[in-house]
Amino acid sequence: MKKLNFNNRWVLITGASSGLGREMALVLADREKANLIIAARRKHKLDLLKEQIERKKNVRVEVIQIDLSQPDGADRLFQQAIAIAPVYAVVNNAGITFYGKTEKKHIEFYEEIVRVNFLAAMKLNLLFLPYFREQGEGAILNVTSHGAFIPMPYQNVYAASKSACQFFCEALREEYRNSGIVMCIYVPGGIYTEMYSKSGIENNVPWNNLVMMAAPTAAKKAIRAFKKRKPLTITGLFYKLNHLIIRFFPRKWVVYVTGKIYKPKTGNSQK
Ligand SMILES: NC(=O)c1ccc[n+]([C@@H]2O[C@H](COP(=O)([O-])OP(=O)(O)OC[C@H]3O[C@@H](n4cnc5c(N)ncnc54)[C@H](OP(=O)(O)O)[C@@H]3O)[C@@H](O)[C@H]2O)c1
Repeated sequence: MKKLNFNNRWVLITGASSGLGREMALVLADREKANLIIAARRKHKLDLLKEQIERKKNVRVEVIQIDLSQPDGADRLFQQAIAIAPVYAVVNNAGITFYGKTEKKHIEFYEEIVRVNFLAAMKLNLLFLPYFREQGEGAILNVTSHGAFIPMPYQNVYAASKSACQFFCEALREEYRNSGIVMCIYVPGGIYTEMYSKSGIENNVPWNNLVMMAAPTAAKKAIRAFKKRKPLTITGLFYKLNHLIIRFFPRKWVVYVTGKIYKPKTGNSQK
């Protein structure tokens, strides 16, 4: 199957101010010679990345400051992005997590997690699909998580939001199978990023560090798979095996063991 060609085409990346999104932007500019529209809330970080890329690479970078937790965030991002240039591909990467006991007092933050991780991603898929169909081509990469496959005590709402995103994207891909639009899902395991260091998992579940991946490696794998139009990509041997093995055990055992492993030693670890 013909590989995606990003050369001199515009790719929108959400959550590009840090971590995986930032690294995917660098890979797309460096290896694929793509022009980029980079989006997130922290404009100073996006401006720095734009400067860094444009100084060294012969590609163009545009910045959109956006809060995807706002009800109109996805719509505004879509309108602003297509006003900049014809968009060829979208990387739905922005995400947030919460690690700690699931309690009522964090409900507002849980709502934010669902808005960013699921609702905004869902809307961006639905906004770009008809746009790409009209253009006659287009590609979407949705970043979910290994947590999408397991109900995760202490990362409860995060896993639930990623699971919703995973199911939505898999089903959507089936509905649009013959549309000519490329729809891929990237399922990372643990990656060393701000999300990980801020969550508190690092200190509470030390063995987890053994199966973490560096963000540049995770980004290269994501873009390589996207280019090859791979529908679903799970990275890391541990996570690939885990994905396979959990199918053979009753769900309640999997949840029990996951809860034992992730139980914070220090009460609520985040916020
Ligand atoms: N790190 C891991 O272990 C891991 C594992 C599995 C999956 N993932 C997934 O990988 C993706 C990238 O995460 P990461 O690890 O690279 O974390 P990260 O370094 O914290 O990056 C998250 C990105 O999302 C953006 N973002 C957060 N809230 C936003 C909002 N309301 N509006 C717009 N942008 C927002 C952040 O930018 P601003 O703060 O500037 O807005 C940042 O650029 C996420 O979808 C995450 O769920 C990560």
